[in-house]
Amino acid sequence: MKTIAVITSGGDCQGMNQVLFSLTKAALAKGIKVVGFYRGYEGILKNDKVKLNLKSIFKYVDQGGSVLKSSRCMAMHTKEGQEQVVNNLKKNKVDGLVVIGGDGSAKGAEVLYKEYNIPTVVIPATIDNDIEGVKLSLGYLSAIDRATTQMSWISDTAKSHDRIFIVEVMGRHSGNLAKGISKEIKPLATVLPDTKVDEKLIKQIENKFNKNQSNIVVITELQPQKIKELEEILKLKYDVRVNSLGHGQRGGPPTKEERKLATKYALQALKNLLKNNLGMVKNLSI
Ligand code: F6P
Repeated sequence: MKTIAVITSGGDCQGMNQVLFSLTKAALAKGIKVVGFYRGYEGILKNDKVKLNLKSIFKYVDQGGSVLKSSRCMAMHTKEGQEQVVNNLKKNKVDGLVVIGGDGSAKGAEVLYKEYNIPTVVIPATIDNDIEGVKLSLGYLSAIDRATTQMSWISDTAKSHDRIFIVEVMGRHSGNLAKGISKEIKPLATVLPDTKVDEKLIKQIENKFNKNQSNIVVITELQPQKIKELEEILKLKYDVRVNSLGHGQRGGPPTKEERKLATKYALQALKNLLKNNLGMVKNLSI
């Protein structure tokens, strides 16, 4: 391989810049050039690119976000868009593609290597940690770190006012992020997509709160009805507030562990690409 391309695609997460740096370093050491396309597949479509070198990325390795920017590219769902991506990769003499992203980005990658024979590997990167067959995706540990820090602050003010906080965390349709956060903070309860708001749950919350064990209920996003229900029931006896942690969970510097994981993924992705072992890079953990 003489030239590889790399994109960061879908929802961004911490550690993406470290992957870009480690991948570029490893590739250049083998005499392989690295082209980065901006905003995921969209950049390939528009031929919006930059030649990556170590100097330009190094200063960002400990920062959140992606120097290549990221987007969810709807055109990759169409035949026309896919063909345009393939043509532009060929025009740029790209011998292999590294996609850093989540489930949606992996689906696009699968089309590229299965239907168009473009050697493509995927580095699992999503704070949701919801990719089939992947134990630990990039971003998950840092997102847990962000959420637990914010929750400890929320907990401080909750204590002063004897309040219960219902705190919504990200994760889309998966409860994995909520579970990871809960393991750290041991909340009153964790309301996952399949958790029912019933008497048992309310009793658990009340018992733990009355024993001062916590003052936070963690709930996975996209469940507004459950939040309303919980709030209404708990408000009959307690002072209740609802907070949503939002996109701050995806930002800020990657943790030390995350940066190590990012480097491992970058090196393994390049190895897999060179061995024509295509698709998702699996089985890595810290
Ligand atoms: O997939 C990562 C994620 O942060 C989800 O947890 C969340 O539902 C979604 O992305 C938010 O997407 P957007 O950044 O487009 O608002």
